[in-house]
Amino acid sequence: MRVHVALTPAEFADAPLAGCVALAVDVLRATTASVAACDAGCRRLVPVPDAEAAEAMAACDGTDTVLAGERGGEALAGFHLGNSPAEFTADRVGGRTVVLTTTNGTAAMLTASRAAAAGLAALTNVTAAARWALEQGSDVTILCAGDNGAFSLEDTVCAGLLVGRLADASPEAVLSEGAQAALGLGRHYGARLDRLAEDSSWGRKLQRLGRAADLAWCLRTDVSLMVPVFVAGGFVPRRAASASAVGSESRA
Ligand code: MLT
Repeated sequence: MRVHVALTPAEFADAPLAGCVALAVDVLRATTASVAACDAGCRRLVPVPDAEAAEAMAACDGTDTVLAGERGGEALAGFHLGNSPAEFTADRVGGRTVVLTTTNGTAAMLTASRAAAAGLAALTNVTAAARWALEQGSDVTILCAGDNGAFSLEDTVCAGLLVGRLADASPEAVLSEGAQAALGLGRHYGARLDRLAEDSSWGRKLQRLGRAADLAWCLRTDVSLMVPVFVAGGFVPRRAASASAVGSESRA
């Protein structure tokens, strides 16, 4: 198994996707919110590039559609929900389609959807996501959503924790340079994830926006067994039976 991490969106174009399983990562906050939406019982979650595409989809799908998203960390005017994981409650999204557009995360999700299999990973489901990827039996490509095209520390740390779990479970795995770099950062931050609230630029931005509760939500590991998996145009909930068999050594 080969494991690759695209550290920034600029690397998406050359990232191996054909025949691979892809995991999109946007810890703050899009993939964390997506895991929360699936945990809350949404029917499916459809990433779209912008507000216009979201509104067009809602016009076709009707009342079962919930519009969610942000730009620059702020909720979009006229949308039902922003991008805070706590907003995705069962009464708001249960049984419904969530159409999501965000600054960085939904682009990574859309790129991942071009792979042979695609799932969403965050710190909150990191072990379940690694396990699901491993079960696909293919090379793994992890796409870090980044920060307006640039490197994002929290996404890379999450990618590193994924790589660690994959490598522990599959010691013959061949890690790309991006995967090795992410693994190093994952090891450094794994036992001190709370530091990301200060050390990452998006973490500091969310604090300025009064979103400390979102940071506390997003910077936890393995509180969910949910892995949103791409099926026919959207990510659907898939709950792992257990996450216990992947990478116990590397967990922090
Ligand atoms: C993004 O897609 O850039 C993020 O999810 C932004 C956020 O809502 O914090």
